Amino acid sequence: MDEKKISIAIDGPGGAGKSTLAKKLAERLGCVYVDTGAIYRTVGLYVRRREVSPSDAEAVERLLPSLDISLAYVDGKQRMYANGEDVTDFLRTPEMSMYASAVSALPCVRAFLLESQRSLARRYSVIMDGRDIGTVVLPDADVKIFLTADERERARRRWLELREKGGEDTFEQVLADLKKRDAADSSRAVAPLAAAEDAVTLDTTELDLDESLEAMLAIIDGKLNK
Ligand code: DC
Repeated sequence: MDEKKISIAIDGPGGAGKSTLAKKLAERLGCVYVDTGAIYRTVGLYVRRREVSPSDAEAVERLLPSLDISLAYVDGKQRMYANGEDVTDFLRTPEMSMYASAVSALPCVRAFLLESQRSLARRYSVIMDGRDIGTVVLPDADVKIFLTADERERARRRWLELREKGGEDTFEQVLADLKKRDAADSSRAVAPLAAAEDAVTLDTTELDLDESLEAMLAIIDGKLNK
């Protein structure tokens, strides 16, 4: 018989520490980490390369059948492929954040990606992070955590992360982009950013990485061993 698969859903706004923490948790718990933001970013990149407006629903819908997205784990890291090309290194830029946010508001894009995300959770024990994992993608997840932090603190973390990679945006620019994206992700009609009713909310404003990790492990332990 198949071993029972565990699923842990982590949602929250940008810069709350979801991907860093989810990656570490996956290592500790022996689960597969699925970064769903990277999947939306891959759609955004494809739309950008084909010079289609990310808010033109009909044009994006016409484009989707020609896009084959796949994902693989190389040295423990999630790599994204668009029609066989490894596009991972192009995805985490401020421009792709905006493209991903815009295409992610389109119902055709969400429908296009839904089944593949669910199928990963059927095959593996997963820690999946995103905006709608606990509410839409995995409503029956064993554990749901809504990770958040004060807006300026999230912007500061994002700014440091970008600067480390050579980005030259000012803190004020990063903060403005983050506010715009949070507003768009939370107010869209389909699968908006929201905490599931049965999610545990964790505010990491005052917590460093290790403290956040310990708090999440305690939540997971409490849910899985009850
Ligand atoms: O987590 P991220 O910053 O890489 O996500 C990029 C964008 O993709 C985000 O602004 C909203 C969208 N997204 C989504 O709508 N649903 C998800 N499950 C994950 C990301």
